[in-house]
Amino acid sequence: MTIAVAGLGRMGAQIARKLHEAGHRVIAHNRSAGPIDQMKALGMEGAYTKEETVAAFGSERPVLWLMVPSDVVDTELDAWLALLPKESLIIDGGNSDYRLTRERSERVAAAGMTLLDAGTSGGVWGYQNGFSMMVGGDKAAYETITPALDALAAPEGAYRHFGPSGAGHFVKMTHNAIEYGIMESLAEGYQLLKEGPYGELDLAAAGEVWQHHSVITSWLNELSRDALKENPALEGIEGVVAESGEARWALETANEYALPMPSIQASFDVRLASQTGEVNFATKLLAAMRNKFGGHAIDGSK
Ligand SMILES: NC(=O)c1ccc[n+]([C@@H]2O[C@H](COP(=O)([O-])OP(=O)(O)OC[C@H]3O[C@@H](n4cnc5c(N)ncnc54)[C@H](OP(=O)(O)O)[C@@H]3O)[C@@H](O)[C@H]2O)c1
Repeated sequence: MTIAVAGLGRMGAQIARKLHEAGHRVIAHNRSAGPIDQMKALGMEGAYTKEETVAAFGSERPVLWLMVPSDVVDTELDAWLALLPKESLIIDGGNSDYRLTRERSERVAAAGMTLLDAGTSGGVWGYQNGFSMMVGGDKAAYETITPALDALAAPEGAYRHFGPSGAGHFVKMTHNAIEYGIMESLAEGYQLLKEGPYGELDLAAAGEVWQHHSVITSWLNELSRDALKENPALEGIEGVVAESGEARWALETANEYALPMPSIQASFDVRLASQTGEVNFATKLLAAMRNKFGGHAIDGSK
């Protein structure tokens, strides 16, 4: 496939590299020039403007993978819609609110184009391990991008089409809400180990043992173990934890459907409280985990 990746940040750069290495023709575009230069050095084509990006497709149907923060998707989308020809396919691979995705897909359809949503999980390890992808939108358009999804996916069954527009982002939102709850449980448990009756416990050792086919063996526990091994007291980590919207949207949706989500609510509240100074060992570990899987700032700024 020929595919443009717009937004070469922590996620987009990995996506561009994996597509390129699988033999796809990648047009690398970004707001600032530095990441484009880096992708060019790896053998991809670079496009420094949106106009250049569109022109690079020639007579081919443009396929654009957008990988930017959710709060800039609307402005970016409008700018692309003004330039792309009809029949173009836009994939929003970021963590967007599924309700906005549904509205956006109508706007995109009115412009004669198609929007797919592809919630993408795997964090900064996706390049190495492959990504897990949750796709929504027109099924026929989805079928056309399966070669790209094959290139990006972790081995065996790591992507699926879930339904009409927004379904992919809805599944990804739910995934992230679950992630908040699991992370909070781990953080609270390690805090209990540290500050409970056996104060000198080796937390990383507990994490290591738990990684050997215990019931809570998991990637998040593995990352907790690693963080505690490298920095047992989590020194230098403030414990302020950002939230990026998905749990908030999930809680709003659960409320709309009268569904209880007390543990996800609690994990969300802990993050908000951390931002007004309620920090402790558990919130430090949350920040450390986010840094390890997503490259997020350790000071909780994003
Ligand atoms: N990090 C993760 O673990 C992870 C995992 C799954 C999904 N996601 C989602 O993937 C998306 C991208 O995340 P990321 O971690 O890759 O973010 P990131 O590292 O902060 O990169 C953001 C990218 O968006 C561009 N950008 C920012 N503001 C822009 C604007 N106003 N106009 C145009 N471009 C703009 C940046 O360009 P510049 O280089 O010019 O700043 C950069 O290429 C988000 O929706 C995020 O929630 C992230």
